[in-house]
Amino acid sequence: MAPAEPARTHRVVRPPILYAGTPVILLSSLNGDGTPNLAPASSYWALGQMLALGLESDGQTLANLQERPQLTVSFPSPPLWPAVERIADLTGRADIPAAKAGRYTHHADKFAAAGLTPQASDLVAPPRVAECLLQLEAEVRRITPGVTGEYAIAEAEVVRVHADRRIVADGDHIDPLAWQPIVYSFRHYFGIGEPLGARGGAVPERVDATRVDADREPASTFDLVAWELEEAGGDSACWLASVCPECGAMREGDGPCQRCQADPPA
Ligand SMILES: Cc1cc2nc3c(=O)[nH]c(=O)nc-3n(C[C@H](O)[C@H](O)[C@H](O)COP(=O)(O)O)c2cc1C
Repeated sequence: MAPAEPARTHRVVRPPILYAGTPVILLSSLNGDGTPNLAPASSYWALGQMLALGLESDGQTLANLQERPQLTVSFPSPPLWPAVERIADLTGRADIPAAKAGRYTHHADKFAAAGLTPQASDLVAPPRVAECLLQLEAEVRRITPGVTGEYAIAEAEVVRVHADRRIVADGDHIDPLAWQPIVYSFRHYFGIGEPLGARGGAVPERVDATRVDADREPASTFDLVAWELEEAGGDSACWLASVCPECGAMREGDGPCQRCQADPPA
């Protein structure tokens, strides 16, 4: 019997981008003068200890990896999406490529532009992003030009993984209940199940540090502290005032955060 005519539930569309939802990563590579470059990316997958990264051909990151084949891959948690967005339209290339003219500007220190802190790596030269709970050090093993010439695929071997102790379970495992990536889906940033903001839209000056949903699993360093606190039956108001809303570190005293220098919460 001939197959039934399918219901006409779909239409043919031509979306300009096909980012259905991959984690946002921050790639740190080394410039020729020894300074680090930081770039958001999301074309990423991992198999075993190998990573495959899709990189634009005209970016500083690819140029750096071709010359100095080491990088770090740091995974920002949802509260850090504004830091990602702050450097979304910046390039480390002093000579802005034609395709980016008018939209992108050059910035030599994207760690500073993002408000993020470089943290020395153990085995590779580029620094990690201190505020990220999950960080990989990797060596590039192969770079393959893409079909269209617009991108290349870098394959890199992870040589060391750093995980904040609060997202580690059973010795060597990342606890998915404690850890959340930012998911980049059709130019919007999401936590798992929760929209954060739109690419190119308004970016809050500061993250909302007062909102804690006690019924859901911890979604960030900030939530995690609140969650641990509730588990311990503590006084949230007392502890939460000590958590930096920008980077999630526990602050000491009443002054700026010792890690990221952000002002204390109001
Ligand atoms: C959320 C997000 C995801 C991105 N994903 C990628 C990606 O997977 N690969 C890539 O090459 N560029 C990606 N970009 C664009 C680069 O970050 C951008 O072109 C940047 O200027 C590159 O910086 P660089 O020239 O200093 O390397 C992404 C940007 C954003 C904001």
